[in-house]
Amino acid sequence: MMNTDTKKRPKLPYKILCVDDEDSTLQALRHLFNYFGYQVIVARSGEEALSILESHLDLNVIISDERFKPDQMKGSQFLKQSRELCPDAVRILLTAFSDAAELEEAVNEAEIFRGVSKPWSNKALALIVKEGIMRQQEARKQQKRTETLTKRGQHFHQVSQELAKKSRKQEEQINQLLEDQRRVREIRGEYEKQRDTLIDLLEIYDRKMASHSRRVAKWCRIMAEVVPGLCKTKFQKVSFQMAGLLHDVGKIGLEKELLAISIESLSQKDLQERQRHAVLGQRILRKLDAFQDIRVVIRHHHEQYDGSGFPEGLAKGQIPPWSRWIALANDYDNLRNTELYGERFDRPNAREQLKSWKGQRYGSDSVDRFIDEVLIPHALEEEEEAWIEEVNFRGLKVGMTLARDLYTINDQLVLSAGKIITPGIRQKLEDEYEDQNNHLIDIFVDVREKN
Ligand SMILES: [Fe+2]
Repeated sequence: MMNTDTKKRPKLPYKILCVDDEDSTLQALRHLFNYFGYQVIVARSGEEALSILESHLDLNVIISDERFKPDQMKGSQFLKQSRELCPDAVRILLTAFSDAAELEEAVNEAEIFRGVSKPWSNKALALIVKEGIMRQQEARKQQKRTETLTKRGQHFHQVSQELAKKSRKQEEQINQLLEDQRRVREIRGEYEKQRDTLIDLLEIYDRKMASHSRRVAKWCRIMAEVVPGLCKTKFQKVSFQMAGLLHDVGKIGLEKELLAISIESLSQKDLQERQRHAVLGQRILRKLDAFQDIRVVIRHHHEQYDGSGFPEGLAKGQIPPWSRWIALANDYDNLRNTELYGERFDRPNAREQLKSWKGQRYGSDSVDRFIDEVLIPHALEEEEEAWIEEVNFRGLKVGMTLARDLYTINDQLVLSAGKIITPGIRQKLEDEYEDQNNHLIDIFVDVREKN
């Protein structure tokens, strides 16, 4: 036995439970391990040791004698049971040398780190304990690393799932956008054909009315961009513009003389007849699928905020929002460019006139926003309107100058603004772009007199 009477070592953060029914053995073990700085707890039977374990789950080492009194559990049995409470404790069994076979069985069954024969060598036992604790600490570190990795893995998994969720959402948004674009193309293809036919009819019926419709459509294009929430998708923007363009299409069904007279000069009967154009417009479009979203808008573009409009006398929030905004653009253009109200108003007077209709034709907020967000910031475009005119492909004649860049429906730039249409260009455009899949759109020409 080594001499343990010399000065004690510094305390170690490790606990050892020693179990033996002989006080002298316990004393010797306590003495030995205290010397090395370990904390030592003792028990005199397996049963007592198990109850101690319940409150010392952080034990590092359990050393137990094998032999107890006949009515008590054996050391190997106790060590086996101790695995439940302290699964990673270092288990050491003290046994007589003659128990070699029994020891081997216990080592296998109770996950015993070492069997030590009595009488033991202090030095050897201390080394076994030290080695056991080192392995235990290494295993605990490894366990911690695994847990950290697992946690990181779980976090990574969670992040991946969130990313996948986000990317699914983005994919849905992209699909929605693509679907929107597809509908825009499809509907614009249809629109182009049907709209051109209707605009041709308007032109033939009354050229001034056709110009008015184009200007209202231009304000709709601007409103669609600047009024929040008015048009949520590109498809809606195109539809809203079309509603502006065709808002008065019902006038085709009226006697032309009715349109030439200012409102003030109309008899009550003629006024009522003229007002039918809103309902007629809806009726004209009823069989054209491409315009299904705008029929109701056209029907109600003369309703008024106070309920005094036509055809149904809707008021305030009952009026479809697109109809309310088209009414503003319609009135403004009529004030500025027609003699519907007896004279043409200059810009400030037209704005004042709109304001004077607050609370009657429109809500106060709508008028202020139309003036502040649409008219004032786009005054230059209003100037430009005097010399820019939109034409359809049939109306694009040799000698005309393009006022804006010319694109196909697939956003392919064909000619730049300022280009003069020569016979060769006209023919080329016809040959290359007038098929249904890639036709020209938004053709604007300069209608100023050339010197
Ligand atoms: Fe109208």
